[in-house]
Amino acid sequence: MMETNFLIIGSGAAGLTLAVKLAEKFPRKKITVVTKANEAESNTKYAQGGVAAVFDLKEDSFQKHIEDTLIAGDGLCDKAIVKMVIRDGPKRLKELMKWGAHFDTDTDGELSLGREGGHSEFRVIHHKDTTGNEIERALLERANQLQNITLLSHHFAIDLITEHHLPNIKSKEISCCGAYVLDQISGNIFTIKADCTTLASGGIGRVYGHTTNPEVATGDGIAMAYRAKACIKNMEFIQFHPTAFYDGNKGTSFLISEAVRGFGAFLRNKKGERFMLNYDKRGELASRDIVSRAIDSEMRKSNDDCVYLDCTHLDIEEFKQHFPNIYETCLQQSLHVAKDWIPVVPAAHYLCGGIVVDKDGGTSIKNLFACGECSYTGLHGANRLASNSLLEALVYADRIYKYLSKHMPLHTTITIPDWNDKGMVFLDNTEIIQQKTKELQYLMRRFAGVVRSNNDLKKASFQLKNLYTETEVLYKKNKLNTSLSQLRNMVNVAHLIIQQSLIRKENRGGYYNIDYKRKLIKEKA
Ligand code: FAD
Ligand code: SIN
Repeated sequence: MMETNFLIIGSGAAGLTLAVKLAEKFPRKKITVVTKANEAESNTKYAQGGVAAVFDLKEDSFQKHIEDTLIAGDGLCDKAIVKMVIRDGPKRLKELMKWGAHFDTDTDGELSLGREGGHSEFRVIHHKDTTGNEIERALLERANQLQNITLLSHHFAIDLITEHHLPNIKSKEISCCGAYVLDQISGNIFTIKADCTTLASGGIGRVYGHTTNPEVATGDGIAMAYRAKACIKNMEFIQFHPTAFYDGNKGTSFLISEAVRGFGAFLRNKKGERFMLNYDKRGELASRDIVSRAIDSEMRKSNDDCVYLDCTHLDIEEFKQHFPNIYETCLQQSLHVAKDWIPVVPAAHYLCGGIVVDKDGGTSIKNLFACGECSYTGLHGANRLASNSLLEALVYADRIYKYLSKHMPLHTTITIPDWNDKGMVFLDNTEIIQQKTKELQYLMRRFAGVVRSNNDLKKASFQLKNLYTETEVLYKKNKLNTSLSQLRNMVNVAHLIIQQSLIRKENRGGYYNIDYKRKLIKEKA
């Protein structure tokens, strides 16, 4: 067993920001960060476009950023939260810069500002097309300088510890006192007892297979919180990114940043028609739900597997300067951006819902906090404005830090039983887990994707029940490993997405069901 003051699950922008801030403020307290792959692996690392924040007060204003966020969120944002996050943004960016993150500047040394879909002004702070990698680098460097942070890579959090695991404690209120954690190298499961636990475990993209997210994005934090009976909301609002590189159904999709459309690229169908203006007057820069559905509709009409991003009219030297990573990756696929169109499809990208938190990042469970993509704060509503998620992760890590600075949790003295896996055997079930994972991903892509219907969702729900039963049998018989835990978590997350989709009886923001009134896409006459 291990004891810590602050346990943080996840080492992306949210988890590391919180760890650094707590460690700087409380040099005598112990901060433990567990992360299931190498320390840098996260959605954060792959973020391209940047972080939205208002720095240019001549052309832009907080009010304009607030309005853009509210428009994208389609009536479901919490206005007070939107205001709070947006006004706090520049301070959090300056803090990142103080810790050593570099962002691009123009010839006058001012921050260079990009523009993405749904933004009425240029306000996206970036580091070429590898902004997330730069943020992750700077945060890890700072975290590694601080003696009171213990960063346990290749450690997988399996379950939160609550009264459910403590038979002698009777309490009406659920509280969290740490987590059971699997050391992925040794295979041992041990207890981390913590005064306060924060989930910063990121997104769920892998539930869909076709996704821009890396392998770690299996929704573990949300599944753990759900099993612990925390409140989870808005899981139907999955954001599909319109322009993931189409790799002929291999699954993992490299992102072609929205900033490329902000730079002037056009979307064309196979016939070469620039179709976006038929759907929205903002054309390629309409919010991403509209662009994704427009692409889906074009693909359905033509029966094509993808549409194309045309950059051939752009200044290619400038393109290379802004998007070196995208340029090189296309070249590796034998695509020369100066003369070839890039094949693209929508892919699962971001979860707008998640573990419900209050304005200080507190969940419905005592001593359990959440921040970043696994949380639901009210900022994004029914659809997230591009580059608002890194912003949210930074702001909420700071909110939790500020709350904990004023309300230090009491040291927990309760006795926690060890993880009980007596009688469990380790069976090599790799193949069956892979097969079940693929089944789940197919099911979600096919029946709960960009365009849904009640019939499809019911089919998905039915098929998921079988998968759930099969997975629980594996879980009860086998000594736990990472892939089995992830499958179990993804099944839980899929259940939440399907059930919460079935409850929504309208089309709103990123949610689109053919059985309800169309709200946003103007179909071609
Ligand atoms: P993550 O960065 O995903 O970190 C989660 C961490 O939790 C990881 O370290 C993971 O290994 C760990 N973890 C998960 N489960 C467990 C477990 N069971 N045990 C232990 N550790 C666990 N947003 C923007 O604002 N701007 C952009 O330009 C942008 N571009 C993007 C491009 C791509 C390709 C992708 C995929 C996303 C992009 N996003 C962007 C979204 C944004 O990157 C994420 O929402 C944000 O980085 C989430 O940060 P996070 O700290 O909450 O989670
Ligand atoms: C992108 O660069 O297109 C992604 C931006 C985001 O997801 O916010």
